[in-house]
Amino acid sequence: MSLLVISTSLKPASRSRVLALEAHRLASAAGPATLVDLRDLPLPLCDGATFGIPAVAALSAAIRSASAVLLAAPVYNYDLSAAAKNLIEHTGKAWEDQVVGFLVAAGAPRSYMSVQTFAGSLALDFRSLVVPRFVYAVREDVDATGILSQDIAARVDDLVRATRSLALALGRIPGTAHHRAAGAPTA
Ligand SMILES: Cc1cc2nc3c(=O)[nH]c(=O)nc-3n(C[C@H](O)[C@H](O)[C@H](O)COP(=O)(O)O)c2cc1C
Repeated sequence: MSLLVISTSLKPASRSRVLALEAHRLASAAGPATLVDLRDLPLPLCDGATFGIPAVAALSAAIRSASAVLLAAPVYNYDLSAAAKNLIEHTGKAWEDQVVGFLVAAGAPRSYMSVQTFAGSLALDFRSLVVPRFVYAVREDVDATGILSQDIAARVDDLVRATRSLALALGRIPGTAHHRAAGAPTA
C-alpha cells in the first residue's frame, strides 16, 4: 500500500504542513508512504490551458498510483484554499475512485464544516471515497514546532488508520485479492 500525503499550503510556516508531516510519519511506520509538497511543484492558476506542464503530469501520476490520498490544506474563507482547489482542477480524473482523507488547519473553530463542499465535489465529480473522519486543527493545536494538542495527534493517528483500513477494504492495496490496477476495467 502506498499512501500519498499532499501538503497544499504555500505558506512558508504552514500549520497544515505540520499535520501532513505527522500523517506521513505515521503512515510510513505502517507501510510505504510518500509526501508531496505543492511548494515543490508550483502550479499556475488553472485556466483550462495549463494541463500540459510537467508538474500536472507528476501530480496526476502520484495521485492515480496511490492506494489512498491524505490532503492537508489551509482553511480560507470557510473553504479549503484556492491552491488546494487549483490542484483538483489540474488533476481532476486522477481522483476517480480514490480514497481521500483531509487534514486542515484553521484559525478558529467556526469553520469546522469547511471541508464539506470540497469533499462533496470530489465525491460527486470523481466518485472519490471520502474517509468519514477528518482532522481540523486550530491555532492552539499546532505550531511550527509540531502538534501541541494530544487530541489532534490522536486524530491524525485515527485518520491514518481509517484511511489505510478503507483502502484495504476496497482492495486498493497491491497483492490483496480485490486489488485492481488503476484504469483497469471493472468487468
Ligand atoms: C485569506 C485567508 C482566509 C482565511 N480564512 C479563514 C476562515 O475562513 N476560517 C478560519 O478558521 N481561518 C481562516 N484563516 C486562517 C487560516 O486557516 C490559518 O492561518 C491556517 O493556519 C492556514 O493554514 P496553513 O498554516 O497551513 O497555511 C484564513 C487565513 C487567510 C490567509
